[in-house]
Amino acid sequence: MQFDILTIFPEYFASPLKVSLLGKAIEKGVIKVKIYNLRDFTEDKHKVVDDVPYGGGEGMVLKPEPLYRAISFIKKENPEAYVIYLSPQGKLLTQKLAEKLLKKKHLVLICGRYEGIDERIRVNFVEEEISIGDYVVFGGEVASLVLIEVISRLIPGVVAKRDSVEKESFTAGLLKYPAYTRPREFMGFKVPEVLLSGNHAEIKKYRKKLSLELTLKKRPYLLASLSLSKEDWFILRELLERQRLYIFLVHYPVFNKKGEVIASAITNLDLHDLARLGRTYGVKGVYVIQPLDDQRELGEKLLSYWLEGKGAEYNPLRKEAMKLLRFFKNLEEGVKEVEKIEGEKPLLLGTDASPKREFITYEKVRELLWEKPVVIVLGTAWGLTEEVIKKCDYFLEPIWGRLDPYNHLSVRSAASILIDRILGIYSFCKKILKN
Ligand SMILES: C[S@@+](CC[C@H](N)C(=O)[O-])C[C@H]1O[C@@H](n2cnc3c(N)ncnc32)[C@H](O)[C@@H]1O
Repeated sequence: MQFDILTIFPEYFASPLKVSLLGKAIEKGVIKVKIYNLRDFTEDKHKVVDDVPYGGGEGMVLKPEPLYRAISFIKKENPEAYVIYLSPQGKLLTQKLAEKLLKKKHLVLICGRYEGIDERIRVNFVEEEISIGDYVVFGGEVASLVLIEVISRLIPGVVAKRDSVEKESFTAGLLKYPAYTRPREFMGFKVPEVLLSGNHAEIKKYRKKLSLELTLKKRPYLLASLSLSKEDWFILRELLERQRLYIFLVHYPVFNKKGEVIASAITNLDLHDLARLGRTYGVKGVYVIQPLDDQRELGEKLLSYWLEGKGAEYNPLRKEAMKLLRFFKNLEEGVKEVEKIEGEKPLLLGTDASPKREFITYEKVRELLWEKPVVIVLGTAWGLTEEVIKKCDYFLEPIWGRLDPYNHLSVRSAASILIDRILGIYSFCKKILKN
């Protein structure tokens, strides 16, 4: 593998290319790194490589001519060399992208500085633009080094133990399990017993489970592109069972169209749809908060039809979903029931169509869900009153379709979108069931 670096700071690379495995790989000739000083491709007395931007503005821009000459010089001898510009606006560098670039065999890495390179070089002579992350560093040199390290690790002979590359985070598709070394006990913190057992089968199982758990919690989207074994599937299901999400549908106190506080009526559609939604996403309970006795009785009657009556016989799948439904007089009773089941107080997440309060993101809800039981509190009619919102620990990010402020959704639609935004990231079972 050959890397050609175009830079205005060649001295930057002096030490990183000499030390450790990268240094050894270069010494052995497994990888070749050539550094080109852009100033050597200037034609003026002062070797000028940058100039002020047209149209004004801060900073300097790397001039097109030295870059063009350097690229042409390399391409003349090596027409297959693949030209990359390291840039914060590029495609995000991932293990997968590194694997793809490895196949190119010869990469030319343009290191930008200041405000970057002249746009005409990027558009006409760069084949791929790559970013090492959504942040800005001083120059492309550090980004080039990151790219060189990621790709080099994949070349046989660079890392002596192939195993350590093949099993590490991302390569295997999962995050790697945590590592421990001597001493067995450090400041009272012990190494997990199973790692000291000498039972290799048990250790392997333990590590696999930890890898799955870490990936599920920290990078769940990685699991979607993996083919997982049946065993993995069971482990993941067990882990997801630890998430305890509840839906509360509040009928009082809510606002009506005129801004008055009312108790709204139960709707058959809401009950069915929320129960089915809940069952599909592994929600632990759908609790209906309704203070009116006759309304609760109506709900219970409907429920008994699906749980014990003709409905149960006719549609057992519906019965399975409807089992999640419970009716409570007020929010406190519902909360008490969750507390009884889960052994701890749940966190309440208020919802509203309007983004007038500080809210937490769906990602934050996922984090909370690994720690505590969580209740999503949905309002019927024209939404929850302040009295309910005040009782909530957090307020959930409202659903905002487009830049247009219209976002009047039915509570069923809103619930589906919210639940999918929170839990949809764990919907990789179709992939798993294929095996
Ligand atoms: C200060 S930055 C220029 C940023 C540019 N003005 C912008 O806002 O997109 C100078 C150079 O550092 C490199 N660079 C900065 N952040 C990077 C990142 N996240 N990934 C890859 N290269 C980066 C690029 O080569 C860039 O041309």
